[in-house]
Amino acid sequence: MIRKIKQRVKKTTSMRRPQSGNGVRRNHHPSASVLAPDSRNFVHFNDRQAGKSALSLFLSELISNPRNIGAACPSSNGLANCMASFVPRAEDGYIIELGAGTGTITAAILRQGIDPKRLVVVEKSAKMAEFLKHRFPEILVIHGDAAELSHYLDSHFGAGQWHVSTIVSSLPFKSLPVSVGDAIKEQFQQVLPPRGRLIQFTYDIRPVSAHYFTNFKKKNSRIKWINIPPARVDVFLREKQKN
Ligand SMILES: C[S@@+](CC[C@H](N)C(=O)[O-])C[C@H]1O[C@@H](n2cnc3c(N)ncnc32)[C@H](O)[C@@H]1O
Repeated sequence: MIRKIKQRVKKTTSMRRPQSGNGVRRNHHPSASVLAPDSRNFVHFNDRQAGKSALSLFLSELISNPRNIGAACPSSNGLANCMASFVPRAEDGYIIELGAGTGTITAAILRQGIDPKRLVVVEKSAKMAEFLKHRFPEILVIHGDAAELSHYLDSHFGAGQWHVSTIVSSLPFKSLPVSVGDAIKEQFQQVLPPRGRLIQFTYDIRPVSAHYFTNFKKKNSRIKWINIPPARVDVFLREKQKN
């Protein structure tokens, strides 16, 4: 009986285990199609496996670079699901996640049924980027700086041969140097077309001005209390440039 159970567990595990690979592919074709049910199972399987090592990696990176990490621990599933719920499924174009950390929000975006071919993440920590490549071998993970986003897109997809519909950012603007924050905000304007969507969370839960990001207008806001600490999710839409 025990042997039978062991065999069954082994069979299920090998069916769901992702193919090995470094997660960086060059020919990505974004489309609005959704994941097949099998792929969803595989994301859930990865979630459970990743949890413990994700937390210890997050904490060690926090100790070595607190300003870049800017958070005491990874986002809660509630916060991650809230961020992901604002990602439109029925649109074409790439979805860019900035500062993916150990992938809590990445996993939530995939659980929404977003096609992994549409998802590109940029993460500055080398160890976290490596972790993400193993956790999500089906998406494009770029180890780099969000301030260089358009450059990465040009070099992966061809100069100007890309269309971004949404940026999901958990970058800690309050703890990053102002010059770095400004360079990243400049990229938001450069990469997102009019009506493009920017989803950002912050631990400062006081209401933010409607035009917090230049040339963006706030459309939605939600506080998630079950997170350490509580956080506010804001959704901004790119406006047409005014000049
Ligand atoms: C607050 S943590 C969020 C991690 C994860 N998204 C979560 O919600 O648990 C911020 C992340 O942004 C990354 N980061 C900081 N500055 C960055 C930059 N300039 N470009 C890309 N990633 C950056 C950090 O390494 C860290 O993983």
